[in-house]
Amino acid sequence: MTNNKTFVHITDLHISAPELQDEKLRSDTTATLTTVLEMIRGIEPRPSFVIASGDLTNHGDEASFRTLAGMMEGLDLPVVWALGNHDTRAGFYAGLLGSADGADKTYDHDQVLDGIHVITLDTSSPVRIGGDLAGAQFAFLEAALDRHAGLPKIIVLHHAPALDIDPDWEWEGLSFTATERLAATLKGRDIAGIFSGHIHQDRFSHWHGIPLIVGMGLHAALDPLHPATDSIRSVQGTSFSLCTLRDSGLTVTCAPLPSDRRELGIATIPQLQAYEAARAAEFAA
Ligand SMILES: [Fe+2]
Repeated sequence: MTNNKTFVHITDLHISAPELQDEKLRSDTTATLTTVLEMIRGIEPRPSFVIASGDLTNHGDEASFRTLAGMMEGLDLPVVWALGNHDTRAGFYAGLLGSADGADKTYDHDQVLDGIHVITLDTSSPVRIGGDLAGAQFAFLEAALDRHAGLPKIIVLHHAPALDIDPDWEWEGLSFTATERLAATLKGRDIAGIFSGHIHQDRFSHWHGIPLIVGMGLHAALDPLHPATDSIRSVQGTSFSLCTLRDSGLTVTCAPLPSDRRELGIATIPQLQAYEAARAAEFAA
């Protein structure tokens, strides 16, 4: 008899409330999520839970989180929520959790689902495209790692730790400082995998001995064939993953939806930097 545990990883839902008439939405994310939820409902044997690793909404507003909450009704599976750079804590707490408390508090949490200890950290920052983790979040992580000894652990972060310490690409994932501290905190710990999103690519790495899974998500794909020197190219593409944790380790199987890979847009690095600077200025105002 096997001890296999199966769960689903979705990311970068980028849901936008219909009343926003979102012109910056590059694909019909509501239709995509509807399709994917129907597919998840049809999976046999039934998975135990769903990880949704951030960028749950496109603009972080409360109405879009309410739209998402309505869409998730009827899934009938536990969902592990993480926040991304497109989300806001205020919108998430009010629109999805129905709570007015702690709008400025990072959403860090851990729980045991089907014998897996799932630890989630909020890497979102109001002023950055990339992610960060504060000192208090590392204290939470260290305490969480000491809980449920003997259970396999997975970690959910919207922003994956950086693969290279390269000053030109810090927007791609966690800050270098947080990346290095995370590596030190997880050293010697038995982590079955880290699940992330943000860069809109199905990408699998071995990071300090830990499987690091990045999902393409449900919004758009970053073209991995585009030379990533001075711009990024978005193409039509969506995917989610079926994950199995066996006694022998983790398997992640992607379920891409059909795509014509039509171009959705190109953004230059200076444009991304200008967007981030404008966001920081807006936050400071
Ligand atoms: Fe995203």
